[in-house]
Amino acid sequence: MDRTAQLIARPPGSAVAYDRPPRAGALHDRAARVLEENWTGTSTVPSRGLYPHQWSWDSAFIAVGLRHLSPLRAQSELETLLAAQWADGRIPHIVFNPAVPLDAYFPSPDFWRSSTAGHAAGAPSAVETSGIVQPPVHALAAWLVHCADPELSRGRGFLARVYPRLAAWHRYLLHHRDLGGGGLAAVLHPWEQGMDNAPSWDAPLARVAPAPSRSFRRADLDHGAAEDRPTDLDYRRYVRLAADYRDRAYGDRPGSLTRGGGVPDFAVEDPSFNALLIASEHALARIAHELGATGTARHARAERLTVALIDRLWDPAAGMFLCRDLRGGGLVPERGVSGLIPLLLPTLPRDTAATLVRTLTGPHFGLGTTTRLAPSYDLLGEAFDPHRYWRGPAWFNTNWLLERGLRVHGERARADALRQALLDTAGASDFAEYVDPYTGEACGTTGFGWTAALTLDLLHTPTFDIRTKDTRDKGGDRG
Ligand code: SER
Repeated sequence: MDRTAQLIARPPGSAVAYDRPPRAGALHDRAARVLEENWTGTSTVPSRGLYPHQWSWDSAFIAVGLRHLSPLRAQSELETLLAAQWADGRIPHIVFNPAVPLDAYFPSPDFWRSSTAGHAAGAPSAVETSGIVQPPVHALAAWLVHCADPELSRGRGFLARVYPRLAAWHRYLLHHRDLGGGGLAAVLHPWEQGMDNAPSWDAPLARVAPAPSRSFRRADLDHGAAEDRPTDLDYRRYVRLAADYRDRAYGDRPGSLTRGGGVPDFAVEDPSFNALLIASEHALARIAHELGATGTARHARAERLTVALIDRLWDPAAGMFLCRDLRGGGLVPERGVSGLIPLLLPTLPRDTAATLVRTLTGPHFGLGTTTRLAPSYDLLGEAFDPHRYWRGPAWFNTNWLLERGLRVHGERARADALRQALLDTAGASDFAEYVDPYTGEACGTTGFGWTAALTLDLLHTPTFDIRTKDTRDKGGDRG
C-alpha cells in the first residue's frame, strides 16, 4: 500500500475509515500538487499570481494541511513567518519576498516601509513586512503541526523554539490591542480581520476619508475579475487606513477608549478574530504542557476570554455574534460568517452553541438546506453578493472552522455532510479561492493554498480535539 492509501485507510490519530477512498486519493494528489507549486523553498504563497508573498493566516492554515505531506515543511512554514515577528510581538500580515518585483502586488514594501517606519515598534531590519496583523491561528497551527509527528518536533525542538514567539504574539494582541478595555483584541484595518470587504465594515469604514484614486495602482485586478474583488472605493479607504497607521509609526493606543483617549477611525472587536485567539490560547496551553508546564493558567485565560466574547459580542436577537464598532459605540447589525466561528470554542455554553448551529442552518446561512457551503455573509442581507469576495461567497477556511466547530459540539452528522461538501467543492472548483455558496462556481483565483491545504486536513483528520469538553471536564491538559 502506498503512503497516500495508508493515510486514507488509517488517518493519523483516528480509527475512522473514509467512505470514498479512491476519489480521496486523487483529491489528495491534486491538493498536494497545488502546495508543491505554491512552495517557494521556505514558505508557501497563497497564489502565484494574486498573492505572491507569504501571508500570515494563510501560512497557518497551509501548515495545518502541509503537515500531512511533510511535517518538516509545515514546521518551516511557521518558522519562516515567525522569523519576521516584530519586537513588540506582532506577526505581520505579509512577509515580502525580495525576489518578487515591486509592482507584482500592492501595497508593496515601499508603501509599508516597515524597517524604517516600524523601527520604533521593533520591525525587523533584515526583512520587509506589512505593519498590520492577521487573525492569530498560529498557535493552533503549531500544535496541530507538532501532533503530526511529535518525534520529529521534539527532535528539532520545534515547540520550544516557537513557544516564546507565540506567547509574545498573544501578549501583543491582549495588551496593545485591547483598545476597548474589555479584554478582547481590536482590529485596526479590515485586512487585519482577513474578511476585507465584509458588510460589517461598511459603517465603520464610512468614517475613513478615501485616499486619492490616482495615488496608487491596484495589482489585484491583473489577476482577478473586478466583480469578484473589493471596489475601488473600498481600496481607497484601505490605503488611507494603512498609510495613517504607518504615519503613526505603527503605534497602538491600548485602553484608549476607557481612558477617554482617541480611538483610531477604524477599531472593531470581531468575533472570528477573537475566537481564533481563544482557540490558539487553548493550543498554547497544550504546547506549554508538552514543554513541561501545566498550561492551566492559559486554559483559564482562554475561558475568561470566552466569557468576554459572549459579554461583548453576543447578540441574542440575531442568534449569533456580531462585530463591535469601538468608535461608533455599538454592535454592527450585519450577520457575517465571522459571527459563527466561535462555534470552534470548546467551552462555549451549550445553549449558545445550539443557537449558532440553528443560525448556521437557518435562512440567513442556509447550510445543508439552500447552500452547499456556509456563505461569508447573510443570504438575506441587503449587501449580499454571491461572487464579491467576502460579501457572500463561501470560503474554505471559514467552512473548515465551522466543520471543526460542529465536531467539537457533537454535531457529527452535520460535520460529516459539510466535510463531504467541502471536499467535493474543492475538487470541482480546482481549489478555488472562494465559490458561489449556492452553485459552487469558482470565484477569485484557483490553485489557492489554504483551499488545497484544508482539503488535505479534512481528508486525513476526521477529529478535532484542541480541547474537547471531555478533557476539560476531567481537568486534563493533554489531547
Ligand atoms: N486580502 C488582501 C488582499 O487582497 C490583503 O491581505 O491583498
